[in-house]
Order: sequence, then C-alpha cells, then structure tokens
Amino acid sequence: MKVDEKLAQVYEPILPSLEKVEEEILKRLTIDYDFPLKKYIAMGKRLRPASLLFMARAYSGFERDAIVLATAIELVHASSLIHDDIVDEAQYRRDNLALNYRFGNSVAVLAGDFVFSRAIMATNELRNPDIMDVFLSSVLVMVEGEFLEEILKFEDRLKEDFYYKVIYKKTASLFEASFTLGALWRGLDKEMLDVARKIGYSFGMAYQIIDDCEDLFSDTDSDIDLEKITLPVIGALINSDDHVKISLDMGLDELRKFVFDNKGYDYALKKSRFFIETGKKLVDKLPDPDVIENLGKFFDYLDYKREKVLENVTSPSV
Ligand code: FPP
Ligand code: MG
Repeated sequence: MKVDEKLAQVYEPILPSLEKVEEEILKRLTIDYDFPLKKYIAMGKRLRPASLLFMARAYSGFERDAIVLATAIELVHASSLIHDDIVDEAQYRRDNLALNYRFGNSVAVLAGDFVFSRAIMATNELRNPDIMDVFLSSVLVMVEGEFLEEILKFEDRLKEDFYYKVIYKKTASLFEASFTLGALWRGLDKEMLDVARKIGYSFGMAYQIIDDCEDLFSDTDSDIDLEKITLPVIGALINSDDHVKISLDMGLDELRKFVFDNKGYDYALKKSRFFIETGKKLVDKLPDPDVIENLGKFFDYLDYKREKVLENVTSPSV
C-alpha cells in the first residue's frame, strides 16, 4: 500500500483491517515460479478495499469475510490494470516498469489472468450468490467499459455523454460494487444497498475525472493519443466557440494550452465537485454515525485532490 499523509489519516479507523487485506493480497499472489508479481501489486492506494471496509464497518481486522472480499476487489482491480497496460502499451505503472513492458504481452496477459482467477476464488470462498452476483456483474461492466473505450471513434470521444459512459463502466462500476459488497456483508436492507451503490457511483465518477485532469497536465509524453481526450478537453470544446477543431496531430502542449485557455480544467473539476457533493449527501442517509463520519472524510480526501489539481493548473505549460 502506498498512500499520502492525508489518506493515511482517513484510513486510520480501518487500519487493522487494511493491514489484514495486505497480508491476504500477498498470500493470494503466491505462485510456484520465480516471478515478481507481489512487487507489482504492492503500490496501490487501496481505495476500493477501503470503500468496502468503511461500508462494512470492518474496523478490527477480525471481520474475516469482509477482509477476503476487500482483497478480492483489489485483486480484480490489479488484474484489470495489468490488462489495461497491455491495451494501452504502457511503459510505466506506479513508478515501476509496466509488466507488459518488462516481460512482454504474453507474460503480462497470463499474469493478469492469474491475479483475476485468485480474485474470483477468494470471492467464491464466501459461498454467497448475492455477493457473487454483485462481484461478477461489475467485472462484466468493467470489461465492457474498456472494450467501448478501445473501439470508440474520435468524434464520439469528444462527446460528454460517451465520456461518462466509459468512466462509469471502467471505473465507477467497481466502486459501486465495493460499497455495495460492504453494505451486503453488513446485512443492510435493499434501500440502503441502493444508497451504497450510488455512493460508489459518485465516488468513482469524481475520482476518475480528477485522475484524468491530473494525467493531462502531468503527462510527459509529447504525443496525443485517444486516451487524452478526457473531460478537460471536452469541457474546453464546450466552452470554446463552435468553429474550434482539435485533432490528434496538434501536439500535447498545444492541446494543454487549448484546454487552459478555454477553462477545460475548471469545467471538469466542477463536474467532479458535483459528484463529490452528491456522494456526501447520500452518505448522510446511511444508518451509522461512524460510517457517515468516515465516508465524509473519504469524500473530503477526493475534494482535497481536486483542489490540488486546480491549484497546479495555473499555467498552460505545467
Ligand atoms: C484504467 O484506465 C483501466 C481501468 C480502470 C479498467 C480496465 C479494465 C479492463 C482491462 C477490463 C477488465 C479486466 C479484468 C481482468 C477484470 P486508464 O488507462 O484511463 O488509467 P491509467 O492511467 O491508470 O492506465
Ligand atoms: Mg491505462
């Protein structure tokens, strides 16, 4: 696990459980061969397990099934990133060489499959069809999201509704599952399960928008690829006059200047603020004051990230 000081504070109430999740992750990544899989999974922020643990009120580390489920969710996420890096031909992942870049695509596909299989096996240990249903449905939606993102035409990538559809499927759906599984494990009623799912939706959407803003201005590549057509670019197009055209041979600095001049970051970060506010209102509907407080802080962490991005985007050359 790798978290900044702010997130470490937010995680304090669930720390014993998160530590157990780390142990479980390592245990379940054990493989007979000499392959450094654990190193690749070690650096995550664990946002999805934390979502589940907060919702489940799993504070002590003795909530065995919740720990196993949180582990499974992180393993699915990790496997999806291994496959995503193949799809994106990525060179780096979390300051390490990406698995595909270091070992080639064949090894990386299989490493992703291995991690994914471990995730399903962990979930299956609970022998609970409702849990399996939520878990597998979100996997299907994630795959659809990544699939859609790959096949989307350039003109459609410039449309805001397609952007939301893709980020819902590839990112927010797993947050929906994480919050819902925590609520299911606790035995909350149907109405509260729906609130939990919507909290996950809001968290995931806000998170991905902020991440996309961060990526666009911190990216060191000079080429524009389709992946860089995200909400700040779409927002800048909406704010600009109708005649403006953007294209993939524009150059990254030029694209950033366009986004900056047309307040694309403000547009995107305002939307993320909307999702954060919506999520916090939903959190207030939950039955337990401790969960309300903890999840309120979890959303505040996203808001802090949002403000940091906004502060950093003060000039087009950043
Ligand atoms: C990162 O997107 C990718 C995802 C959030 C989802 C990836 C999903 C799949 C590959 C399909 C599901 C696969 C399995 C094995 C469950 P990004 O490229 O925008 O983010 P990045 O900057 O972190 O790479
Ligand atoms: Mg990627």
